[in-house]
Amino acid sequence: MVMTESGDKPTTPELARAAVSADSGRDALPSGTWNLLRDRLRANDPIWLGFHVLNRASAKISRYFDGKARARERAKDLPGVNTREYNRLLWTNYDWSHSGEEWTPTPQWRRSMVDEVMLALMPDQPTALEIGPGGGRWTVELQPRVESLVVADISPRAIELCQERLGAAANVSYLVTDGRSLTGVADGAIDFVWSFDVFLHIAPVDQKGYIAELARVMRPGAVAVIHHPGDGGSMEGWRSAMTAQMFADLVRERGLRVVRQFTAWGSDGRHALPNSGDVITVFDKPA
Ligand SMILES: C[S@@+](CC[C@H](N)C(=O)[O-])C[C@H]1O[C@@H](n2cnc3c(N)ncnc32)[C@H](O)[C@@H]1O
Repeated sequence: MVMTESGDKPTTPELARAAVSADSGRDALPSGTWNLLRDRLRANDPIWLGFHVLNRASAKISRYFDGKARARERAKDLPGVNTREYNRLLWTNYDWSHSGEEWTPTPQWRRSMVDEVMLALMPDQPTALEIGPGGGRWTVELQPRVESLVVADISPRAIELCQERLGAAANVSYLVTDGRSLTGVADGAIDFVWSFDVFLHIAPVDQKGYIAELARVMRPGAVAVIHHPGDGGSMEGWRSAMTAQMFADLVRERGLRVVRQFTAWGSDGRHALPNSGDVITVFDKPA
């Protein structure tokens, strides 16, 4: 049955007629693999059909082996394509002329990310930590609103860019990381952690390292907001193999508390993460 936009059954005779004809159209479609192939062969030629079948089969095979490789990365702590060295080189040589704003869908989305996610979750005047600032897209929002800010990135180029952008801001300190630890940040020093568009590209084994480090550097009561893959990654967008469930389990294993995992926010989920397979996890350190 064709539903109206509200999900109800059609309410007018016109809508009911459209529903009936759409339903009968669906019934008239060829079903079953052989019928479909025969139908497509009639309208094309055998060589086209050969390409078509190979294309469909190879897509299935590719998905199957990608799933296998991702599962092995998770089970055996392998980095897959998301190695730390590759991340360091990639982002050091990236063209940062747009400061990461090329990943911002709209100005309204950006405003809402700052007001309804970052600031809504940030404790008052915190000592904050940002992991993976890149060209400083979110760093410029954090810096004026926090007591002090530690900016940590695997790429020395990203750190240079933030230094250039924030000038002589006295409340910021910088750290080039090894991609999985926060050596140099004192135990219990941090009240608020922010990382957006970063863990997407970090292998689960290195995310594990960061989560253990966050458990160490977060003060009791501190809050962390981390954007990461939720669906185990896919080659598209070069996502890592992390899942929402695995991330939540890792957080809990370290004695931290998952507050919420979400993909959309604002009134009625007005804004959403650009990639539907990703998620934001908010967690805190029990006081
Ligand atoms: C896609 S950019 C996002 C930059 C910024 N957060 C934004 O949203 O515009 C990814 C950033 O994460 C950093 N990064 C990648 N892997 C990292 C790791 N293991 N540890 C720390 N930073 C990392 C990169 O150097 C780069 O600055």
